[in-house]
Amino acid sequence: MSDISANQPPFRHLLGIEGLSAPDITEILDLSDEYVAQNRQVDKKRSILGGRTQINLFFETSTRTRTSFELAGKRLGADVINMTATASAIKKGETLIDTAATLNAMHPDTLVVRHPHSGAVALLSQKMDCSVINAGDGSHEHPTQALLDALTIRRRLGHLHGLTVAICGDILHSRVARSNIMLLNIMGAHVRAIAPPTLLPGQMDRMGVDVYHNMEKGLRDVDIVMMLRLQNERMNGAYVPSTREYYHFFGLDQAKLSKAKPEALIMHPGPMNRGVEIDSELADDINRSVIREQVEMGVAVRMAVLDLLSRRPSNLPPIGPSGGPDGGAS
Ligand code: NCD
Repeated sequence: MSDISANQPPFRHLLGIEGLSAPDITEILDLSDEYVAQNRQVDKKRSILGGRTQINLFFETSTRTRTSFELAGKRLGADVINMTATASAIKKGETLIDTAATLNAMHPDTLVVRHPHSGAVALLSQKMDCSVINAGDGSHEHPTQALLDALTIRRRLGHLHGLTVAICGDILHSRVARSNIMLLNIMGAHVRAIAPPTLLPGQMDRMGVDVYHNMEKGLRDVDIVMMLRLQNERMNGAYVPSTREYYHFFGLDQAKLSKAKPEALIMHPGPMNRGVEIDSELADDINRSVIREQVEMGVAVRMAVLDLLSRRPSNLPPIGPSGGPDGGAS
């Protein structure tokens, strides 16, 4: 989180979990609960964002995140515009800053951004007058994913404090893992990271996690098993010998899951690679897997975030070193 009032409600931007407090997270989750109830009604629409414009700017592919941000904005009454990198002037060589200046001139109220580079969303936020939400920047952060995961866990188990959560797989390249590790630590959960050494960032101990290189050991007595996809698009070179061998050692199957608590829940942010990080039947096991529920929670959490950001006073000082949002772009 960067500047003015970013760390306290009313938030200006949501750039990451870093900087949020336990009460901030609880406030978002409490409001999300209300939106879960609303989304289960026939009439899902409210008008609290009536007259406001939300732009979803995605420089990377997305199914769940983009659709749920679109639904969330529309269910709150905003006008929602979707922009993808392939269908915009970015393809013609426009810089990120120029794109920001162009969009800023159209007076949006919220900009939702996904970008392959860590830090790009924070940079963009410095050039915009409106609220900016990070929908995933490189391998850095994906705050709404961690919030929706927390909501899913809290609704199932009643609390986060004291739970043991195992995050398994490609932690090195995962923004989902980073945001989840931060959120779970803030909320008092114990986090284990289970991965081959090649798929773990350095200094994991500084992130407040216990590291395991063996699934059977790492999963012992955990409450939650969170599986991650191999982020091949962020790898240059081979990080695992083969997907077959990876599945053998790190893929979640019945035998490995049996080490966890008998009622342990399986989570996955999606997209899943069945037979690579997770057994296909386990992924669909309605008694253990909450993967579909995570998707449902995603819409509610994004509605809560949009709602909270819209409550910020409109007279917050403009951003930028020169007192204006131009940032040197023309
Ligand atoms: C994740 C992402 O994009 O970081 N997906 C998502 O937002 N649901 C995880 C992934 O791509 O593996």
